[in-house]
Amino acid sequence: MSAEREPIGVIGTGYVGLVTAAGFAALGSEVWCVDIDAAKVERLRGGEVPIYEPGLERLLAEHSERLHFSTDLGQALEHCRLLFVAVGTPPTYSGDADLSAVHAVVNAIPGSDSHALVMKSTVPCGTGAAIQRILGERGKDGLRYVSCPEFLKEGSAVEDFMHPDRVVVGDNGDWAGDAVVELYAPLGVPLVRTDIASAEMVKLASNAFLATKISFINEIANVCEETGADVVEVARGMGLDDRIGPKFLQAGIGFGGSCFPKDVDALKQLAGNSGYHFQLLTAVIEVNELQKRRVIAKLQKHLGGLVGKRITLLGLAFKPNTDDMREASSLVLSARLNADGAIVSAYDPVAESEARSLISGLRFAESAMDATTDADAVVLVTEWPEFLELDWREVAASMGGNLVIDGRNALDGEAVRAAGLTYEGIGRR
Ligand code: UDX
Repeated sequence: MSAEREPIGVIGTGYVGLVTAAGFAALGSEVWCVDIDAAKVERLRGGEVPIYEPGLERLLAEHSERLHFSTDLGQALEHCRLLFVAVGTPPTYSGDADLSAVHAVVNAIPGSDSHALVMKSTVPCGTGAAIQRILGERGKDGLRYVSCPEFLKEGSAVEDFMHPDRVVVGDNGDWAGDAVVELYAPLGVPLVRTDIASAEMVKLASNAFLATKISFINEIANVCEETGADVVEVARGMGLDDRIGPKFLQAGIGFGGSCFPKDVDALKQLAGNSGYHFQLLTAVIEVNELQKRRVIAKLQKHLGGLVGKRITLLGLAFKPNTDDMREASSLVLSARLNADGAIVSAYDPVAESEARSLISGLRFAESAMDATTDADAVVLVTEWPEFLELDWREVAASMGGNLVIDGRNALDGEAVRAAGLTYEGIGRR
């Protein structure tokens, strides 16, 4: 099978790069991965996976004979026509995407009539056109360019690679676009083949829309709290409308992660830079910031001032099944609690070491039960499965107080109340 499959290069071995590499290796391609971080390349060669992503380690191990890791771009150029670019595009202070890693790749690629850059990194609409212009100016216009945005979610990235809702390929209608389409053909999923700018915009617009859906349901939750309605019931009723759908209607303490906050901001800035004020996205961002802080008001409502109060955070990662702490709501929450004089302890089954480098002034507990001991209040921040299975009678016995704030509306409120605790969710009756 591998002899018939197109070999590929993958530049950047972060979440997107590693999952892309493992996924295409599983589909039968030889994959040459390139990263500038020599230590990381060494670890990957030794079979060590530097990130926590369910199923990824197994997939990389199963197909290790087809996976090659190097700091040298030369090998990838020698063996592959298609070079998937999966380098980071973090936000800058202005909210625009930092494209320096992308441009470093563009600079490093020699002129060639037989290679193509396939952009997996999320980049502003117009980046493909700018890169092609730069390549032209440098006499490298033989290089082809394809935009192939990635929609995988952390925590289910391997599953998302194998079963995407759609594959989007934006290109100039040349061999490179055909080759990328061919690579994804075995997945048998809907294909959107379009121009480069539209493909870039599909990615940004999809993430911005999903983030809007979350901020919308969070505002509905806040109104529910004023009116006595229950947002879980409201979301259930709304989600059954085919035009709305049930997904991304879970109210909580806001969205985080490496994509939504960055991409919403990047789209807003992109619009602003071209003279258009994207009002809706401004509100989506503001609602999300306020939502993280509403937990503080809930705690104060029940406990009064927070000075000296013992508050436990269950979960720190921006969502379950990942160790990713980027833009996690816990960062804002722990800083606010510290500033208000609370004594904070926290437990996360996976993200502790990531969290330690970002959060100071809290005690990292060894288990959920260790974290809740003597607590005046417990806040569910990340809905890890193990927190949903806690024995609330045991928790109640260990706590000093009796307040449980369910920041993800994921706990069984009845079970919490039956243990003699006060339960408060987000927008719940
Ligand atoms: C997202 C997109 O889903 C994915 O397509 C894109 O490629 C990258 O960005 P990811 O950031 O991994 O993926 O996580 P996702 O599961 O989408 O959740 C993002 C955030 O929204 C999390 O903080 C999550 O807790 C929050 N969320 C999600 C809600 O608050 N409510 C919901 O209903 C859904």
